[in-house]
Amino acid sequence: MKFFRRFKILGTGSFLPEKVLTNHDLEKMVDTSDEWIKTRTGIEKRHIAANNEATSDMIFAAAKDALKNAGLAASALGAIIVGTVTPDTMFPSTGCWVQRKLDIPGIPAFDVSAACSGFLYGMEIATSMLPSIDKPILVAGADALSKITNWQDRGTCVLMGDGAGVVIIAPTTEDRGYLSSLLGADGALGELLIQHAGGSRMPASHETVDKNLHTIDMKGNEIFKHAVRTMGDAAVEAIAKSGVPPDDIDMFVPHQANHRIIEATCRRAKVPLSKTHITISWHGNMSAGTIPIAFHDAVSKGIIKRDDKVLFAAFGGGFTWGASVLVF
Ligand code: UT7
Repeated sequence: MKFFRRFKILGTGSFLPEKVLTNHDLEKMVDTSDEWIKTRTGIEKRHIAANNEATSDMIFAAAKDALKNAGLAASALGAIIVGTVTPDTMFPSTGCWVQRKLDIPGIPAFDVSAACSGFLYGMEIATSMLPSIDKPILVAGADALSKITNWQDRGTCVLMGDGAGVVIIAPTTEDRGYLSSLLGADGALGELLIQHAGGSRMPASHETVDKNLHTIDMKGNEIFKHAVRTMGDAAVEAIAKSGVPPDDIDMFVPHQANHRIIEATCRRAKVPLSKTHITISWHGNMSAGTIPIAFHDAVSKGIIKRDDKVLFAAFGGGFTWGASVLVF
C-alpha cells in the first residue's frame, strides 16, 4: 500500500441533542406523512438542538467523548478545525468557541465552510497540517440545521437535523492514514442550495427576515441528480487512486442526505450496500455532521475495526464534494 498521508485516528466521538422530532411530529406541522418521508428519504426521526444550544456546544460534548476514547487530555491538542455552515457566530469562528470551552488557548482554531463536505474538507486540511503541528488535531463536522430551516417548507424541513461528530488524528509512522483523498467544487451551481441572506451579499434586514431569506433554499430533485453522479464519481476516483481493489474496501461511510442517494451512489461506485454504514433513519441530514457521526457509530459498535479500509464520500452546497480512502 502506498500512503498519500500517514496519520492515526486516536479517537472518535459524537453528540446528538436530546430533543427528538419524529415523522409523526412533522405530520402535525406540514402537509406530509411518515410514509412519504420514509420511502423518499429513509429518515424516521431527527434531533433538534435546544434554543440555547449552539453548534460549539454540540462539538464540545462530542470532543469530550472523542478525547476520552483517545485517552487524551484536551491540552494535548495542537489545532481545532470545524466543518460547519451553522457557526455559533459569523465571528469568532465556531473553532474558537470550541477552544474556549475546552480551555486550551494558543493553538490554531478555525472553521471550514464547505456545507455537507465540510468534514472531508476539514480532514484534508488537518492531515496536511499534521507534519508542522506534530500534535493531535481535532477535526469536527457539525451543524445545527434546524436553526436555518424553514419549518413551513415540507420540501426541506423533513430532511434536516442537528448533531456533531469529532475525530482526533495524530502523526504516525504506522501503515495507516489516507491512501487517497480528493476534493472538488462547482460554484456555478451554488444557487441550487443556498441560504440567501445574512452575509455581505444580502445583509440581515427586516425585509430579509420577513421574506424568510435566512433559511435553507433547496432545489431538491436537481440536487439529487448532481449528488448521485458527483458523489459516485468521486468515490470511484478515490478508490482508483488508493490502489485498493474495490472489493477490498471494508466499509463505506457516505454523507447521509437521502437513503436513495446513498443507494444510487453505491450502484455507481459498485460498493455493496452490505458494506455501507447507513444511519440516516435516526438522525436525518446534519450536513457536515453526518460522516463523523456515522463513522463514530461504526467504530464504537466494532463495525469498523483497526486496519480496515474505509471509503468516505460527500456532496453538498457550493457545490462541494470530496472522497477518500483511509486505513483506520
Ligand atoms: O445534503 C446535500 C444536499 N441535499 C440533498 O442531497 C437533498 C437532495 N434531494 C432529495 O433528497 C429529494 O429530492 C427530496 C427528498 C428533497 C425530494 O424527493 P423527490 O423524490 O425528489 O421529490 P420531488 O421534489 O420530486 O417531489 C415529488 C412530490 C411533489 O408533489 P407533486 O408535484 O408530484 O404533486 C412534492 O410537492 O412530492 C411532494 N413533496 C412532498 N410530499 C409529502 C415534497 N416534499 C414532500 C413532503 N411530504 N415532505
